[in-house]
Amino acid sequence: MDGNGRWARRRGMPRFFGHKRGVDALVRTVQACADRGIKYLTVFAFSSENWKRPSDEVSGLMGLVLVAVSKYLSKLAGEGVRIRIVGDRGAVSDKVRAAWQHAEAATAHNTRITLSVAFNYGGRWDIVQACQQAIRSGVAADALDEATLARFMAMSYAPDPDLFIRTGGEVRISNFLLWQVAYAELVFSDVLWPDFGEADLDAAIAAFSGRDRRFGGVKTDAAVPPSPELAAARGP
Ligand code: FPP
Repeated sequence: MDGNGRWARRRGMPRFFGHKRGVDALVRTVQACADRGIKYLTVFAFSSENWKRPSDEVSGLMGLVLVAVSKYLSKLAGEGVRIRIVGDRGAVSDKVRAAWQHAEAATAHNTRITLSVAFNYGGRWDIVQACQQAIRSGVAADALDEATLARFMAMSYAPDPDLFIRTGGEVRISNFLLWQVAYAELVFSDVLWPDFGEADLDAAIAAFSGRDRRFGGVKTDAAVPPSPELAAARGP
């Protein structure tokens, strides 16, 4: 959900204002995904590296968790959204941890769409914590394969993502779901996150639908049109 800061600065407002509008864009996007039958939406709200931001921005984002949960939880719960938090909860305050626990408990029974909020999350952190858990569980080195490690990843409850969207014009993954995006289709949008709307979501889905997904296999014949010479030799 990139571009909140720029969105606000372009309007002469403090960056935090962009994050606030970012929460509204998030709620809109959850609803739009649910309406389209998407079962899992995972958003990157705070990375392991975001602690490097100015302290007032960090504390603003932490406070925004509390505001967002109190403002939107009952609405999302009523719409069938299950909320899960992924990330290292150890470093966040008791208040933030309690808000996340409350959001998860209040929506645990919902099945329409699962919204995973990556918070104090990093793809590298996830791989390391999965290895630590596997070792602690007594998995022998020779028995450790991809399927086994996947069971210990923070998002083991969800399928790997099909579509990865990054807003805000940057063209990189920035430590998001590194393990899980191995075969995701990547879509980069110039739209700043607070402006992200249904038309942008549909454009990303349309781009995804046009991709030839092979998962390491061969291209389908439909995806390999004949050369102009062969087409001409074959005739109309
Ligand atoms: C990146 O934009 C955005 C973030 C680091 C925060 C994203 C958070 C939200 C949208 C709020 C969600 C909050 C909750 C409680 C779920 P940026 O600030 O790096 O923007 P810039 O690239 O324009 O500076």
